[in-house]
Amino acid sequence: MTDFLAADLAASIRTIADYPKPGILFRDITTLLGDARAFRRAVDELVQPWAGSKVDKVAGIEARGFIIGGAVAHQLSAGFVPIRKKGKLPHQTVRMAYALEYGQDEMEMHVDAVAAGERVILVDDLIATGGTAEGAVKLLRNIGARVEAACFIVDLPDLGGSDKLRAMDVPVRTLLSFA
Ligand code: PRP
Ligand code: ADE
Repeated sequence: MTDFLAADLAASIRTIADYPKPGILFRDITTLLGDARAFRRAVDELVQPWAGSKVDKVAGIEARGFIIGGAVAHQLSAGFVPIRKKGKLPHQTVRMAYALEYGQDEMEMHVDAVAAGERVILVDDLIATGGTAEGAVKLLRNIGARVEAACFIVDLPDLGGSDKLRAMDVPVRTLLSFA
């Protein structure tokens, strides 16, 4: 991953001030997704460490993590597991409360979505405080998954999320940072 590619991808992301709350600088990846070349390069780059290795499942976090995670799962020929905001999944679930940069919520996953010992990569578009990803790792580990890594297009390192995941022994892959 070159600095040039990181800068190119960063330039395809739009920043909106004071959304969804005053004081938040919102990093809007819809502009990256709408740029065919940037979307392709971001997904190709994210999956690169696992090319040719066995990944059983990719877990994506609602909603933006579904877009990136679906593409990553396809690329790795892995299954896809949706981690959803509460009340959306029809079968028996496990649930976890979490806090993020601008709010709090609860997430759920089907209890049988991952078999014990399966190798899972967690995917989302962005990591800020890491509250969301931390909740997802706990859910996955609670049902016996091996969380091999977590990957994100964007890191907001000043908010400490990627360090928080590494402290939980989860290798973290991010493509670019906004400090
Ligand atoms: C965003 C983003 C991550 C989370 C990161 O999701 O897609 O899931 O915030 O924040 P954190 O590291 O501070 O936990 P959001 O909850 O806004 O949901 P959305 O994807 O439905 O917009
Ligand atoms: N999720 C948490 N913080 C965010 C931010 N600053 N921009 C976009 N998504 C986010």
